[in-house]
Amino acid sequence: MVPTMGALHVGHVSLIRRAQSIGASVVVSIFVNPLQFGDSSDLATYPSDIDRDLDICRETSVDLVWAPSVEHMYPSGFATRVSVTGVSVPFEGHHRPGHFDGVATVVTKLFSVVRPDTAVFGAKDFQQVAVIKRLTSDLGLPITIDVAPTVRDHDGLALSSRNVRLEPPARTRALAIPRSLRAAEDAWKSGVRSSRELEAIVATELGDLDIEYAAVVDPSTLSERTNDDDSAVVLVAATVGGVRLIDNVVLG
Ligand code: PAF
Repeated sequence: MVPTMGALHVGHVSLIRRAQSIGASVVVSIFVNPLQFGDSSDLATYPSDIDRDLDICRETSVDLVWAPSVEHMYPSGFATRVSVTGVSVPFEGHHRPGHFDGVATVVTKLFSVVRPDTAVFGAKDFQQVAVIKRLTSDLGLPITIDVAPTVRDHDGLALSSRNVRLEPPARTRALAIPRSLRAAEDAWKSGVRSSRELEAIVATELGDLDIEYAAVVDPSTLSERTNDDDSAVVLVAATVGGVRLIDNVVLG
């Protein structure tokens, strides 16, 4: 299964291809989940083009597309929330209160209806993957969570459905995000291990972008690394030209 919110792009196609290499049949769900949007204007402007999405699914030989309505997913009286603690709290959890409850609730429902053997998610949403892995393990769901590498445009920007809302000047400014991650990678390769030093390198590259967070933390707990020799993840969220973008890189 490849759960999506539609506005499919090459990144989603790579998830679909990956799912096809794993399983006999691939289900794509398309559902813009209102529960995970705190900001109603973000929900209202989230790109959507179901005809194009269906064309892409046809062209990539997806076996089944499930595109339920909001009423179908959340009929009147729907009162359940799935809430993951711990890894969901910092970063996206802090800046988008309620977001991960929305993600955990919809993913649990999508999983319980489709009952896939494997679900494929993109590595760009690093914290989302951590939340979904936690929930799958805690609830004992017999589903393998597979994580596909982030697909980047020729200029390094991570593919995201939100990128279509970037005007050309904003898009150019947004390139500071992948540049900052490359700088962290280069620094790591040349032996820099301290979170604070890596964060300073990232911040320098991000310059005057409107940064929500740019942090270097432990990839499994998303909290402070206890040892400089441990692996690290750089997590960045910034708003550019009114568009909120996230990206990350794992070091070590
Ligand atoms: O990553 C997404 O597109 C969404 O958060 C997901 C996992 C489909 C849940 O709505």
